[in-house]
Amino acid sequence: RPRVLSGIQPTAGSFHLGNYLGAVRQWVALQESHDAFYMVVDLHAITVPQDPKELRANTRLAAAQLLAAGLDPERCTLFVQSHVPEHAQLGWVMNCLTGFGEASRMTQFKDKSAKQGSDRATVGLFTYPILQVADILLYQANEVPVGEDQRQHIELTRDLAERFNGRYGQTFTVPKPHIIKETAKIFDLQDPTAKMSKSTANPKGLVNLLDEPKVTVKKVKSAVTDTDTEIRFDAEAKPGVSNLLTIYSTLTGTGIPELEQKYAGKGYGALKTDLAEVMAEFVTPFRTRTQEYLDDPETLDSILAKGAEKARAVAAETLATTYERIGFLPAK
Ligand code: TYM
Repeated sequence: RPRVLSGIQPTAGSFHLGNYLGAVRQWVALQESHDAFYMVVDLHAITVPQDPKELRANTRLAAAQLLAAGLDPERCTLFVQSHVPEHAQLGWVMNCLTGFGEASRMTQFKDKSAKQGSDRATVGLFTYPILQVADILLYQANEVPVGEDQRQHIELTRDLAERFNGRYGQTFTVPKPHIIKETAKIFDLQDPTAKMSKSTANPKGLVNLLDEPKVTVKKVKSAVTDTDTEIRFDAEAKPGVSNLLTIYSTLTGTGIPELEQKYAGKGYGALKTDLAEVMAEFVTPFRTRTQEYLDDPETLDSILAKGAEKARAVAAETLATTYERIGFLPAK
């Protein structure tokens, strides 16, 4: 079985619809066909300040949401990044393989540090993508299911894997991004040219999966469309309507042409009302299932402990080989 690995940050509290449609939904599908490793990336989370209590609670909350979304611990390995120390260890090795200029070209760092100012942005934020490289290479992943915003980090992973292999001999699998075109970038409901993101200026544009369903319904109904009335997929000319069609199509498994036909001659109101219902039907059981996992932290923690054990077995083997190739003296 080919292997996949991916991760999600615990910091958001609730996952948003972009996280789900762009990434987590693929994770659920891939556990059937792949040897799948999925993690909550708490080491990445501390690249910006975190309250300790909240970080711990949000890490459990992220794991609970992943299970509620359909990850099955019998079919995949679900773990917390900091439970596997090899991530930080291989991260150091990868730091020493990355050019300063190369790291400086990572656009996510540029965006995030610009927002924070260079005195508040940490070195950890700067080397964030390099830790992500280590995450992926430790598991010899063939594919990495993510949204479009992670593509550059996967490119860096490929470059560093090839560089290491070239210098020290074949060690790492060179991974490919697994990015589903249709859902690679879900847009903000209020600003449909911007990626849906928790750092949005207008919270009405952000669909949190753990919002009260009636809040979600309201957000969908007040989504920005355009002054036209025609329901047609055209990402350039009609980004708002196209985003709603993508969401609708993905959640229901109905093709976009079919939806265009269904709503021919009807207004945006009809589309939004129906989509609001589809969303409510999706988020209501999601909320309940997430709460069930949170209500039983012992079971949740034991799932994560088992996951960490399975992950460590793989990670430790890769790290040992890496250390040996580099020329570190074995500790006898
Ligand atoms: P994170 O936590 O920001 O996001 C988790 C996943 O959600 C996707 N995503 C979106 N997809 C479509 N449309 C959107 N609007 C949208 N917003 C977010 C992201 O692309 C991502 O797949 N650096 C990663 C976490 C990470 C990782 C890894 C991923 C750490 N190590 C190793 C893969 C492999 C991140 O911050 O994701």
